Amino acid sequence: MRHERQVELLQRLARSGPHFQGMHAPHSMVNPTSAYTDPGRFARELKVLFRNGPTLLGLSCEMANPGDYLSTTLDGVPVFAVRQPDGSLRAMVNACRHRAAPLVTERAGNTGRSIVCNYHGWTYDPDGTLRARPLSSGAFDDFTLPCDLHPVAVAEKYGLIFVRGGSSDPIDVDETLGGAQDDLGSFGLDGYTHIETRTNTWDMNWKLILDTFTESYHIRWLHKNTLAGTFNSDCVIYEGFGRNFLSVGLRADVLDETTKPQDEWSLIPFGTIQYFLVPNALVVHQLDHIEVWRLEPLAVDKVRTHTSLFAPEPPANEKAQRYWTKNLDLLLQVTGTEDFPTMERIHAAMASGAIPEVVYGRIEPPLIHFHTALNEALATADQ
Ligand code: FES
Ligand SMILES: [Fe+2]
Repeated sequence: MRHERQVELLQRLARSGPHFQGMHAPHSMVNPTSAYTDPGRFARELKVLFRNGPTLLGLSCEMANPGDYLSTTLDGVPVFAVRQPDGSLRAMVNACRHRAAPLVTERAGNTGRSIVCNYHGWTYDPDGTLRARPLSSGAFDDFTLPCDLHPVAVAEKYGLIFVRGGSSDPIDVDETLGGAQDDLGSFGLDGYTHIETRTNTWDMNWKLILDTFTESYHIRWLHKNTLAGTFNSDCVIYEGFGRNFLSVGLRADVLDETTKPQDEWSLIPFGTIQYFLVPNALVVHQLDHIEVWRLEPLAVDKVRTHTSLFAPEPPANEKAQRYWTKNLDLLLQVTGTEDFPTMERIHAAMASGAIPEVVYGRIEPPLIHFHTALNEALATADQ
């Protein structure tokens, strides 16, 4: 993050007055719990946000070599992107043109020089062009349907890869990022190394995973035995970028930094700098690494999460590798034992029908931004 940006954000904090009240949102917001539990609303979210809209597939450094692929499912549409021999990317529906078997079955991997269907061996070039139907003795020569893999849109910039599940309408990454590219571009994501990705499934609406990270107000209570001693529970630094938004969690001693001469200020050691790329991803800049959360909603009350850790350089030895692995262990331990079990109970309470609404207070501005943006996106799509 550029130094001027870090200074600007720290200044905002330093001027926010007692109890950081200047960081509060102008108004609180009431959201019906049906936004989390209604299957009709969920179906619309999948179509509008996940099928039709761009979503983050991953980071460029996860698929650096020819044949490397990443796959996902967007509103049920299985898609995968493949690194081409010339370094560009192509994305396609992950279903064979013979009888729709998947071409790749892992979340990430390498296809080798061609993409081969595991069912009857139809073979495609890396760009999805059908190359061969082995040993079929001309049995498919009497029809004229197209046999190349069905293309979908993919775009790559700033070390981020976006796909569109439902069409090949081009993706404009700058428009998708809505202004967050100034910061995200400064992180040099291209130069990072993927350490590990862990996948879990949770019994809650997908939005509750993102809600978890939006505010710090819960730290004092929910994390009283883990994070509360170190981190501020009174505010986050928030900024909106179209649908996306920034929420910076802060160390309790962050204002000490602003007692130094201004050209020495640094937010990085004091902040957990989180970019929410709505709808499906969270990119977190921590002091010495990057974490990325990617979501795949499976049902109105079920979501799959992929949590990845990226290091600034390849681990030099086993000790360095263990350091990163332990980092990921800790992240998943706190979220998996303190945050997400609470969120699952929240979902269950909302799904019971006994709680008609929830409230996002002025101390939770990113939460207000997130749900306002989603409600507006659905309303616009309905028109
Ligand atoms: S379904 Fe792929 S070769 Fe038959
Ligand atoms: Fe938390």
